Amino acid sequence: MKGAIHVIPPEPPLLEASGITKRFGGHTALEAVDLRIQPGRTVSIVGESGSGKSTLARVLIGLERADAGSVRFRGEPVRGRRTRQRFRRSVGMVFQDPYESIDPRLTIGEVVAEPLHAHGLYRGGGREQVRHLLDSVGMEGVDQDAYPHRFSGGQRQRVCIARALATDPELVVCDEPTSALDVSVQAQILNLLLDLQRRRGLAYLFITHDLDVVRRISDEVNVLLRGTVVERGSAEQITRDPQHAYTQRLLGAVPAASPRERRIGAPPRS
Ligand SMILES: Nc1ncnc2c1ncn2[C@@H]1O[C@H](COP(=O)(O)OP(=O)(O)O)[C@@H](O)[C@H]1O
Ligand SMILES: [Mg+2]
Repeated sequence: MKGAIHVIPPEPPLLEASGITKRFGGHTALEAVDLRIQPGRTVSIVGESGSGKSTLARVLIGLERADAGSVRFRGEPVRGRRTRQRFRRSVGMVFQDPYESIDPRLTIGEVVAEPLHAHGLYRGGGREQVRHLLDSVGMEGVDQDAYPHRFSGGQRQRVCIARALATDPELVVCDEPTSALDVSVQAQILNLLLDLQRRRGLAYLFITHDLDVVRRISDEVNVLLRGTVVERGSAEQITRDPQHAYTQRLLGAVPAASPRERRIGAPPRS
């Protein structure tokens, strides 16, 4: 006799954006962009400068308002104050420039605690929580009462990553998180992000113009040209067999032989 067949419904995407359109005056920065990110996966956005990558990130996390389109998180429309607030708690953000994105008047502990305060989560054990977050990004033994000017670009980006993780998000949006850093530090930060993904089951929306990075970390790549996704596929497929002339051009911009020192695999931190 046959047993009952249990059909497991497919998990809804963690994030699903449909028809995202954004205009600045008469200029259309994004035109009907669709995007899906599954839990624990890395979706990349690549495109030349000005193609709309940062605008897309900002619209998706609610820092900027779309002119059209909708965002769903875990199948629920992100709409209304309560849902929006819950969503903001579930999404971290790491920006390109760790100098600009940290308030120099705050100690690094205060920087990391910002989201905890913003969401009313800073309680008695706040300092220990901050300590744990700093430890988790390779800042063990670093004084949380120190000011940011004491730290290098790479260390500041670690502080920004700790801040992004403070509310224990399921998704982290990274907007060119390594491109302002020294080449020698880029690999360490990328390794840290990959390690955190494995340990915490994070999903990433990863924005970059570095196709070497894209190959290494992405499950899916979206190629953005003047605010439109012109090609989408697995990292392997996009880099091996790009269909769109623009993607072919982007790939052509990558040096033929990838220098050995840019290869990831070295242990994080120095
Ligand atoms: N706040 C803004 N006001 C006016 N135009 C903007 C603003 N932000 C971005 N843009 C324009 O939107 C386009 C996309 O910019 P951006 O998203 O920063 O691109 P990318 O991150 O891919 O370099 C550019 O033409 C840029 O000038
Ligand atoms: Mg940008």
